[in-house]
Amino acid sequence: MDQIAAGESYIMTKILFVCLGNICRSPAAEAVMKDIVKTHGRESEFFIDSAGTSGHHVGEPADSRMIEQANKRSLHITSISRKFTHKDFLDFDYILVMDASNYSNMANLDSTGKYKHKVKILAEYASDSFTNYKEVPDPYYGGTKGFELVLNLLDNCCINFYHSLL
Ligand code: 4NP
Repeated sequence: MDQIAAGESYIMTKILFVCLGNICRSPAAEAVMKDIVKTHGRESEFFIDSAGTSGHHVGEPADSRMIEQANKRSLHITSISRKFTHKDFLDFDYILVMDASNYSNMANLDSTGKYKHKVKILAEYASDSFTNYKEVPDPYYGGTKGFELVLNLLDNCCINFYHSLL
């Protein structure tokens, strides 16, 4: 993970995407969000990262199926899996989780509820044809369509989340 530069971190909005393995959904969300802020010329105002709750894939690049589907959209996923740490509650302004299981994992790690205000389910930002999605579904054990759906849903939720910050 890139270090958050202490000197200017206070002016940046720090966003962390969290899923289970940090090899499918959250690395894709990280790449989608980085692309959005870049497109809007606001890269320097955001620090965007991702992490997983499980630690099972630490040190691995994203799942090759997710990389392949993202590449088809000229979206390049470069993150290496890391495990969520308690320090992330301090370092980030927004912690956006993919599903209810991720949310309850966060709640268990934040036993006093001190950081509850930072943790949100990303699908709460879904709009239009995606409003029926209450979670970003785990594509790991499914086929190509699941990875495409995740990318479509992330595009929709991340742009809405971005606009909610303005
Ligand atoms: P992710 O997907 O949480 O979106 O990164 C998964 C990755 C790996 C596993 C499950 C989900 N796994 O069981 O190893």
